[in-house]
Parts: sequence; structure tokens; C-alpha cells
Amino acid sequence: MRLLVVCLGNICRSPMAEGALRERIRLAGLAELIEVDSAGTGGWHRGEPPDPRAIRCARGHGVDISGSRARQLRAQDYLDFDWLLCADADNHREVLRLAPAAQRDKVALWLPWAGGAEVEAIPDPYAGGEAEFERVWSLVDGAARGTVRRLTEAR
Ligand code: 4NP
Repeated sequence: MRLLVVCLGNICRSPMAEGALRERIRLAGLAELIEVDSAGTGGWHRGEPPDPRAIRCARGHGVDISGSRARQLRAQDYLDFDWLLCADADNHREVLRLAPAAQRDKVALWLPWAGGAEVEAIPDPYAGGEAEFERVWSLVDGAARGTVRRLTEAR
């Protein structure tokens, strides 16, 4: 099973999501079965590490995301991944717009797909501060737990 989390810049939300997912998958003993990657619909930050605020926030929760490097979503991703899980409605619309017809069913808005969250979107924290990043962590970690639950129930 291969999961790709997609946001806009691939330096805040999706690397945090990737880190939270990898940790929850490891804790569930599923690291051999589930692979995780992340990408952005935009390419402005290509090659860059996550935003220092995202790295700090994740580190505060025991997860090191400093080795992540931003990349843009590419056509091959639709073939390589089982699910393309989007951070917000804009990302979802863009990932669907670029999707080959045969791969559209792989594209989902991540929070509703994972279940349990009271909101549908992970808000972009880029213009915010520490509180916004903590809010993102809370949402991505909840969705990571929901993802493990969904994938283990489906096996
Ligand atoms: P992300 O946050 O989509 O969570 O990685 C953003 C990072 C950069 C920009 C926008 C959002 N930007 O416009 O450069």
C-alpha cells in the first residue's frame, strides 16, 4: 500500500503529515506494508527542507522531518500510489483536475477519508505562527491514526 499526501508547497502540511503517518504506521507494526510520501501541487519550494516551524513542531512531538525535501506532484504519482490524500479543498480540486480518468478514484480529501475529524481541511499555516502549526499537527496526527484504523479494518 502506497500513500501520497498532497498540499500546496510540500514544506508545511504534507511533510508534517508524512512524519505523523510514518510514526503511527511504525507504532502499529505496519512499516513493511505501508509506504508514505508527500508532494505539493506547486513547485516553488522544490528541493527545500520543510519550513523551520514545521520541523520544530514535529520535533516537539518526537518526529524528525528534517530530511524531507519538497517536490511537485507529477503524472507518475497517479500510477505509483494507491491513494492521493489531499490537505484541503484547493489541493483536492487541483489533484483531481490533473488526474487521469482511470485514477480519479484514488484521489481523496484526507480528513474525511481518515474519519474522526470535526473539520474537512487542514488549514494552511504558512502565514501563521506556532499555534497554527500545532493545530496542523493535531489534525495530521489524528488523521494518521484514522488512516491506520481504516487500512487495518480493510485488510
Ligand atoms: P504547505 O504550506 O502547502 O502546507 O506546504 C505552504 C507553503 C508555501 C506556500 C504556501 C503554502 N507558498 O505559497 O510558498
